[in-house]
Amino acid sequence: MKEHEIKINFKEYASVDELSNEDKTLCLEAVKALKTSHSPYSKFKVGVAMRLQSGKILYASNQENAAYPSGLCAERVALFNWGANHSDDPIESMAITAHTDEFQLLKPVTSCGACLQVLAEYEKKQDSAIKMLLYCQHGPVWQATGIESFLPFLFFEDRLNQKP
Ligand code: THU
Repeated sequence: MKEHEIKINFKEYASVDELSNEDKTLCLEAVKALKTSHSPYSKFKVGVAMRLQSGKILYASNQENAAYPSGLCAERVALFNWGANHSDDPIESMAITAHTDEFQLLKPVTSCGACLQVLAEYEKKQDSAIKMLLYCQHGPVWQATGIESFLPFLFFEDRLNQKP
């Protein structure tokens, strides 16, 4: 028996003011995206702003549906929009924030496993890691780069092949 240990690393900033201007701006743009959230069922809004290599910023938010599983998280709305319309312009960074009127969020939201799997797919497609900024408006910002900081045991396409 051999035991392995995997360590992940992320940075915590007490507020957006500790970030570079570029990253701070992206976090504040993610707040703007909250306005387009369609979340009448959970009343939990998630906003995303994604900076592309060209400097263009893409916006997304969670989109819910009366048939609950038909809805989609903000991250996948952002990533699929990029895949369909902007995939020649690599994603450099992605800021995610959340808001609910029901209570105050004191910690950043962390993406669900399905969103992380999609993130992995596109990091692979564009062949570069994405800087993730998880921004809590009344708390810290967590920052980590690359899917393996979040999901070290993710499923990669090479597992579909028989090669050793
Ligand atoms: N949600 C996101 O959009 N992103 C996350 O990282 C976590 C959850 C959405 C899905 C649903 O619309 C609502 O938040 C509550 O789960």
